[in-house]
Amino acid sequence: MKPQTGTGLANGKIILAGEHAVVYHEPAIALPIDAVYVKADIVSAQIGQTIQCELYTGDVNEMPTSMAGLQFAICEAFKRASAKEVTAHTFTLSIESTIPAERGMGSSAAVSVAVVRAIFDFLDATLPEETLWDIVQGAETISHGNPSGIDTATTSGTRPVFFKKEQELQTLHLDMPAYLVIADSGVTGNTKQAVQHVSTLQERIIDPTTQETGSDAVQSIGAIVNETKEAIKEQNPQKLGQLMSENHERLQQLGVSHDVIDTLVDTAHQNNALGAKVTGGGLGGCMIALVETEEAALHLQEQFMKQGAQAVWIQSLAKKENTK
Ligand code: PMV
Repeated sequence: MKPQTGTGLANGKIILAGEHAVVYHEPAIALPIDAVYVKADIVSAQIGQTIQCELYTGDVNEMPTSMAGLQFAICEAFKRASAKEVTAHTFTLSIESTIPAERGMGSSAAVSVAVVRAIFDFLDATLPEETLWDIVQGAETISHGNPSGIDTATTSGTRPVFFKKEQELQTLHLDMPAYLVIADSGVTGNTKQAVQHVSTLQERIIDPTTQETGSDAVQSIGAIVNETKEAIKEQNPQKLGQLMSENHERLQQLGVSHDVIDTLVDTAHQNNALGAKVTGGGLGGCMIALVETEEAALHLQEQFMKQGAQAVWIQSLAKKENTK
């Protein structure tokens, strides 16, 4: 008998504006990044429930606690797609990912999205958007504590999103003559720790000159995100770049950047980028810079690599290349 198979894909993401503030019900804008993705393949087996991925190969029921979120996604997907427990099925699930882990590119959410899609495909079941959302958000909550849902929203779609917690998702029409250069600092970020740190600053004064609290900075980021939405609508790269840099300053104030990221941001400015910022949870991870031409993007890519970046990707913001 021919083995039963299923496949699922998901892309990486970057946050263009609004990380951290989004946890406090401010808006954020995120974009799917096609250059990095996860592919999950599942095939029926004679016995057992086996998972094969970079971090672990073995029985799904014996996955390490660090992978408890993914284990939840697998068990829940089988249950919802077949009304039977995972142990009622026999399979091998393989996961391949080009999204660096813990760098703010949505790796954990994308793995869950791809896996849930593969399981539903394997079982020939229809996967409603809400079911995908529920399962992936459940997995993210186990992995990260209090996720806003922005990673779940962006890695499961193909369009830029304007996201506000507990509000209906808006997709944005992005078509700008500009390029994002995304650099992986090589330093492992820690979203959970960064989110906790920002929570301790809410009532505290973070700028003695202006007497601003962490909560004031969060609100300023919200205003930057709304202006960013306008810059996207106006197709105005200069304005977008300036807003990215203002957003970075606010995230620095909140203590979620990192020396290596700040050095890359400086490199971007020295090379005439329109703007640059940390992206995602921070405390390491990735940064993004905006430039106007492909030539400038390639030049900046080279500069970032010279500076020690672990990997650098270029994403066009023109329509045909940022939508699938
Ligand atoms: O998963 P990351 O590192 O891209 O961070 C997500 C963005 C935060 O706003 C920092 C947290 C969240 O849950 O929205």
